Amino acid sequence: MAVIFHENSKQFHLFNREVSYIMGIMENGQMENLYYGKAIRDREDFGRFHEEEMRSQMSVCVPEPGILSMQYTRQEYPVYGTGDYRSPALCIRQENGSKIVNFVYAGHKITEGKPSLEPLPAVYTEEDSEAQTLEITLHDEVMDTDLILSYTIFEDYPVIARNARFEHKGEEKIVLERAMSASVEFSDMDFDMIHLAGAWSRERYVKDRKLEMGIQAIQSLNGTCSGAEHNPFMALKRPDATENAGEVYGFSFVYSGNFLMQTEVSTFDMTRVMVGINPEDFAWELKKGESFQTPETVMVYSDQGLNKMSQVYHRLYRKRLMRGKWRDLARPILLNNWEATYFDFNEEKILNIVKKAKEAGVELFVLDDGWFGARNDDYRGLGDWYVNLEKLPGGISGLSRKVEEMGLKFGLWVELEMVNKDSDLYRAHPDWVIGVPERFESHARHQHVLDFSRKEVVDYIYEMISKVIRESSISYIKWDMNRYMTEPYSRTSEPSEQGKVMHKYMLGVYDLYTRLTTEFPDILFESCASGGARFDPGMLYFAPQTWTSDDTDANERTKIQYGTSYVYPVVSMGSHVSAVPNHQLFRTTPIETRAAVAYFGTFGYELDLNLLSDEEMEEVKKQIEFMKKYRELIQVDGDFYRLLSPFEGNETAWQVVSQDKKQSIAALYQKLNKVNASWFRLRLQGLDKDKLYEVSCDVSAAVCTGKKEKEEVLTYCAYGDELMYAGIPVSRKYLTRKGGDFAALLFLVKEAD
Ligand code: DGJ
Repeated sequence: MAVIFHENSKQFHLFNREVSYIMGIMENGQMENLYYGKAIRDREDFGRFHEEEMRSQMSVCVPEPGILSMQYTRQEYPVYGTGDYRSPALCIRQENGSKIVNFVYAGHKITEGKPSLEPLPAVYTEEDSEAQTLEITLHDEVMDTDLILSYTIFEDYPVIARNARFEHKGEEKIVLERAMSASVEFSDMDFDMIHLAGAWSRERYVKDRKLEMGIQAIQSLNGTCSGAEHNPFMALKRPDATENAGEVYGFSFVYSGNFLMQTEVSTFDMTRVMVGINPEDFAWELKKGESFQTPETVMVYSDQGLNKMSQVYHRLYRKRLMRGKWRDLARPILLNNWEATYFDFNEEKILNIVKKAKEAGVELFVLDDGWFGARNDDYRGLGDWYVNLEKLPGGISGLSRKVEEMGLKFGLWVELEMVNKDSDLYRAHPDWVIGVPERFESHARHQHVLDFSRKEVVDYIYEMISKVIRESSISYIKWDMNRYMTEPYSRTSEPSEQGKVMHKYMLGVYDLYTRLTTEFPDILFESCASGGARFDPGMLYFAPQTWTSDDTDANERTKIQYGTSYVYPVVSMGSHVSAVPNHQLFRTTPIETRAAVAYFGTFGYELDLNLLSDEEMEEVKKQIEFMKKYRELIQVDGDFYRLLSPFEGNETAWQVVSQDKKQSIAALYQKLNKVNASWFRLRLQGLDKDKLYEVSCDVSAAVCTGKKEKEEVLTYCAYGDELMYAGIPVSRKYLTRKGGDFAALLFLVKEAD
């Protein structure tokens, strides 16, 4: 790994074994991108990648006879108004109304390691030797403002992490109306754009489209979260790239609020990628001495397809984004009472559920919504973070201790950013909600958004909830957030500061997370937003797991977890076995399949085990035993491979492989069963081709089909090359025995003795 500055050519080259990123200082002092892609050896001068020629209608930004035009250059941080007619990375309104700027190279600094971006989340280094950071300072003389472009290259990851910072030194007030985190330019448009789109209960479906001339963008504008609609991730892949071969460029935004990810292809076939805070409803005024830090963009380069890109994100986010005690640990098997009881519970009912969970081998009980204030439905109570003694006479402290005495850890649900109008908090502080006075305030799920851009609001909530935590024995917190922002307006901000509200709201959320995770370092936090509307890297910095989706149907979950795996590691995906018929879709799937999907996540249950048959209860015990045995492999050690896509066919398959390649688990799921169908081969990935493995798969009849007619385990030995290139022969008969429609098979693969 190195960051080299070539004095003569005025070029920077950041590279490691896998990736190169090359920039130059142009004749006008601005920065230009010369190359981003597979590592190339360093040379003194890459000036040949600067493409310049006279064209008609071209505006030239240097004195004659120069012919440098912003319209045809690949800029590092493009601006508007000086000849470039594409979308800029930056827009600054000045006191005279002008938006013209000229940020030119003023110096640079290369440091070991990576500086923290706190209070913003970001990837980090533990040792300085893990990365190098280049900070290029550009200066605008008229405003007297510095723009610092930051690039970190890692030794062991094909990753470049970028951000931008503005430091204003001038006398006049300036307003940042657009301040993107990164802009990257490619010299061609030969890409497909991949992104993860969806909605509540169908988050992160994989979308793939060919880049065309013009703008293609995804965004969040909802104020409270990155959103269920579009994940803050995008990849550009070469059309011939597949899961396991070809070039892919990933862009992941470490932020949980409004974002914009955009590709713009010029009519000269150049592709510009832009990532940052959504400029819509954003305006950040800077006075003399003030600065603004953008969030981080993590760019991954892969020359081995999408799978490799995902594995890099998984490894980096697992090891250098998540933090704290739980970062390196397999996760406890939990039971959450939401779908078991909804709001309708009391202590007796809960303890009954806990008792049965203990019998099954569950390790953590999570009490979901409904334990506080007058919260017997979703019309009231949010904001009143003290226990409802009618339901739980011993309080949370009493209940948590009882649960611990029964041998389980205790976890609690909260939704700290919200308030119902029917609550003591709202009655005391009606002006604490986001909204414009004298205008209608839209509600969602009967709740309103507390103004977390205000410190006093965050302070109050912190005091309330930390008291509950201190007084009880709490090992886990599920931090939910169930609505998007409307009428964004902070009652205490000056008119000129209203454009800051949504970003400040997010900083308030991060601040509360920081305080709680600092005071309670042993607590495992799981973030949640009506399921997976806040599944983003920003959240993973604070909470190392996220509730993936409210949709717990096993078949739907194959799609959701498959899409989520493009960026996020298995250990971050909250995944539960729930009751059938499923509460979202009313679909019935075999209990074995429900578990086989949930194994590839944090794993838990979301039902009352008392309502299962004896046979199903025996199956649950086996599932928990299985997960305890293999969770280290699945969640901590293993590399994840996608094998068959639910978006392309009737079958889904994926696999984890241990680092030493001695162990692997592959899972195959089908949607509908097929009659009189042929065998097919499931080709594995990631094994050692020269190792002899023992493959085993339980193909006996499933619980849901009635009595087990015959115990049958398919076992044989094969070398890695056979398993990867020829595959495992699979008969439809096995899937029929497992329940037919929505059946699953698990293949255990381990080095033969
Ligand atoms: C939405 C979450 O996604 C659910 O899991 C549950 O916690 C409910 N909120 C409770 O209101």
